Amino acid sequence: MSTSTSDPSHYQPSLFDQLPDDSHTDVKARIEHLRAELHRHNRNYYVLNSPEISDQEFDALMRELQELEARHPEYFDANSPTQRVGSDLGSNNFPTVRHQTPMLSLGNTYNRGEVAEFFERVRDGLDGEPFSICCELKFDGLSISLIYDDGRLTRAVTRGDGQQGDDVTANVRTIKSVPLILDRPEKDVPAWPAHFEIRGEVLMPWDSFNRLNQSRADNEEPLFANPRNAASGSLKTKDTAVVAKRGLDAYLYFLLGSNIPEESHYENMQLARSWGFKVSEHTRRAQSVDDIFEFIDYWDEARHSLPFAIDGIVLKVDSIKQQQKLGYTAKSPRWAIAYKFKAERARTKLLSVTYQVGRTGAITPVANMEPVELAGTTVRRASLHNEDVLLGLDLREGDYVYVEKAGEIIPQIVGVDTTARTDENATPIHFIDTCPVCGHKLVRYEGEAAHYCPNDLECPPQIKGKIEHFISRDAMNISSLGPETVDDYYERDLIKDVADLYHLTVDDLAGTDGQKEKSARKIVAAIAQSKQSDFARVIYALGIRFVGKVVATIIAQNYLNIEALRTATLDDLSQIDGVGPIIAQSVVSWFADERNLQLIERLQAAGVNMQTEQVTALSDRLMGKSIVISGTFTQHSREEYKELITLHGGKNVSSISNKTSFILAGENMGPSKLDKAKKLQIPLLNEEEFLSLIDSEQ
Ligand code: IVH
Repeated sequence: MSTSTSDPSHYQPSLFDQLPDDSHTDVKARIEHLRAELHRHNRNYYVLNSPEISDQEFDALMRELQELEARHPEYFDANSPTQRVGSDLGSNNFPTVRHQTPMLSLGNTYNRGEVAEFFERVRDGLDGEPFSICCELKFDGLSISLIYDDGRLTRAVTRGDGQQGDDVTANVRTIKSVPLILDRPEKDVPAWPAHFEIRGEVLMPWDSFNRLNQSRADNEEPLFANPRNAASGSLKTKDTAVVAKRGLDAYLYFLLGSNIPEESHYENMQLARSWGFKVSEHTRRAQSVDDIFEFIDYWDEARHSLPFAIDGIVLKVDSIKQQQKLGYTAKSPRWAIAYKFKAERARTKLLSVTYQVGRTGAITPVANMEPVELAGTTVRRASLHNEDVLLGLDLREGDYVYVEKAGEIIPQIVGVDTTARTDENATPIHFIDTCPVCGHKLVRYEGEAAHYCPNDLECPPQIKGKIEHFISRDAMNISSLGPETVDDYYERDLIKDVADLYHLTVDDLAGTDGQKEKSARKIVAAIAQSKQSDFARVIYALGIRFVGKVVATIIAQNYLNIEALRTATLDDLSQIDGVGPIIAQSVVSWFADERNLQLIERLQAAGVNMQTEQVTALSDRLMGKSIVISGTFTQHSREEYKELITLHGGKNVSSISNKTSFILAGENMGPSKLDKAKKLQIPLLNEEEFLSLIDSEQ
């Protein structure tokens, strides 16, 4: 759901605005009404998965509330839905807070025998009383404690060391599935206590994780190894506006306090759901060890089709009285245990560590290993990310290492088999201090984990990387050139930067070789053709750090020509919805570099397009169509597809109904959506089909 901020030209007056003046009781009432409505729609969308209104209608209500709050600061409320978009004003410095009740962790096991022993221990501890066990998913994120007073979120604290944690309330407020104000329970349903604590897990769903890592890869920033690290990194980010964009989610699984309504943990969680919390619908109550094993077996398989990562199953005695009777050890409750799924792991020999240099000069160490089978693929290489990771593993030449698939996608070295180290004095592997290609001394900027080669004008992989980026499909789209040709031209001294491309001649490329003439003509023509590329593509092609495809489009639409963009101030840029201070700084620094200004001049002199018209829509190819997006994508992010749908006149809706025109279906579409689509006979279009549908050249 988008929440575009305060461009006054987009503000649509509501009926309310036509009132003669802001009479205070009316303003307050309207603000309260809007807040209540937005909370309700938010919950429908993020918790219940069943929106009642369109994104546009939601945005219109949100804009109205933002305007009113801006005009009436006296009605500020930290729990207003407008606060969910975060702000870069002031930084979070996470005061430490002591937990009212310590946040214990759970005893862990990977072993079914120990699950059976747990069951026996519980039976013995309860002197033969009947009992049931709640079987729950073990969410792979980070635990969070939420405090509510009079139905309003007042504090969110991380686990920390279990006794005290970080106050991350401002960041948690941006997580759309966390209720800021609780729903009034229906009649006959027990109300929430005036003061209570609820605990759960903040996690990053696969969708958000893949999108985040894709954009980090585009910007050559270090990738997050798994969604847990990404969730935890995001929650500790100082800028709430950044957190708001990370697509975090939260499931709640434990209600605390002396005044909680029900005697059964399961019933309490159902109640919590009715108050507005996101509670898993997959919890089951088991009466026997066999029931528990059935649950474990099912989820060991079915977890792969969940939209988020789980790393096991949690088993909890259901009755609160029985929980109290069983009590706690010093570290963990006796009434609960976690069964963890085994990560698929392999052992292999480390052959060497080599270093890649990216187009921004970022250096990535890579482990080369003897090929080994892991979860259905052969693994030969694993990223070691940066110096800290390399040092943390304490690798030595000739070591045997353990490889795991983190979140089942990227292979990671998780440790060294030190028992296989035969030579006590084996040489430790140190990070390099000069560029492996150009030999320049590397630098590490404060606060960054990566090392960089600063020799961007002369270091060959950086030069070639920038040219490859410039010609790539989403940039200038010069498809008759590829990495090998770029390499060849570079080695032959024909190109040293992207502007040189526009001076290549057929003679340069083909020489006297008549055979090559035809393809040389094609290449020269394709390069010439690229001069007409959209201004947004040109901006993206320049390879300014943090300026991805979407940001480039936003910038192009805001400045319309290179002169305006070149002279844009940090303040101007930061004000743009979707840009923010980090990107703004990167753009300003890029244009402050004399060498980049010269490059722009040469591109301009060659005739490369440096301007655009204000666009309202790209086409009406999707006019009247309601489109559901589902699954994960490779060519564009989900956000970009949403934007494309809007730009081509279509409407993005979140749930499938008989009014849905088609589903833009990526990989791993959820089974329930697939079933529904089949039942209603809604067509599925994959990425390629969708892109060719909107391709304007057709
Ligand atoms: S209950 C006293 N339930 O696993 C009970 N924990 O060491 C406390 N977790 O720190 C936790 N899913 O971060 C519980 N359904 C679930 C869970 C869960 C994930 C995490 C939690 C906890 C760790 C266990």
